[in-house]
Amino acid sequence: MIIAPSVLTADLSNLAVACKEAVDAGLDWLHLDIMDGNYVPNLTFGPPVIKSLRKALGDGPVFDAHLMVSNAEECYMDYIEAGCDHLSVHIEAATHLHRLVTAIREGGATVGVVINPATPIGGVLEVLSELDLVLVMSVNPGFGGQSFIPSVERKIRALKQAIDEQVSNGGRPVQIQIDGGVKAHNIGEIASWGVSNFVVGSGLFNNRANVADNLSEIMSNYEQYNG
Ligand code: DX5
Ligand code: ZN
Repeated sequence: MIIAPSVLTADLSNLAVACKEAVDAGLDWLHLDIMDGNYVPNLTFGPPVIKSLRKALGDGPVFDAHLMVSNAEECYMDYIEAGCDHLSVHIEAATHLHRLVTAIREGGATVGVVINPATPIGGVLEVLSELDLVLVMSVNPGFGGQSFIPSVERKIRALKQAIDEQVSNGGRPVQIQIDGGVKAHNIGEIASWGVSNFVVGSGLFNNRANVADNLSEIMSNYEQYNG
């Protein structure tokens, strides 16, 4: 399983320090929430900041960019060139999704498609054979610290079934990543639905404890549930 820390609720004036805290706690993915103030009502950071982060953190961590932008079809290459290893793009914001996911892979990154809580999985299934990951949003994108929307369970189970079928037919294995409201108390149950990659923001970066201590609570609940 993978925990992908999201630094949205960390001290963003010390972005590299927050990322390093996660890496030092043993996490080797970093989930970078790219918001353009247009597709979502919030604005974070873009390629120049990511390029600096890559310099500060070295080649080790996997940079997992979650593009909450209206124009991914125009700007995806800027994120790959800035040092991202993986790009996830919203199905709701893409005009030509198949072309976009193919272009991202050709550009040198692994690729995922994101669906919002109200988006059905149908469109994702049409491009499933091209993907490394499907990101199911369990909050509406734009902010950290929101509550988990439990109705995503049905979608995740259906998606897991489709992926298992694809794999048993010799197709590409696809990770299911979940994003929003994932905490120590629910991670075990979510894993049992078929999720293997968990974005955790405020569950790791909060003023209750440091990242390492929050992580060990999350992991012990995960292990309790998943033996
Ligand atoms: C929301 C972002 C998430 C967010 C998760 O738009 O995509 O990655 O930071 O934060 P928590 O875990 O606090 O819900
Ligand atoms: Zn995200």
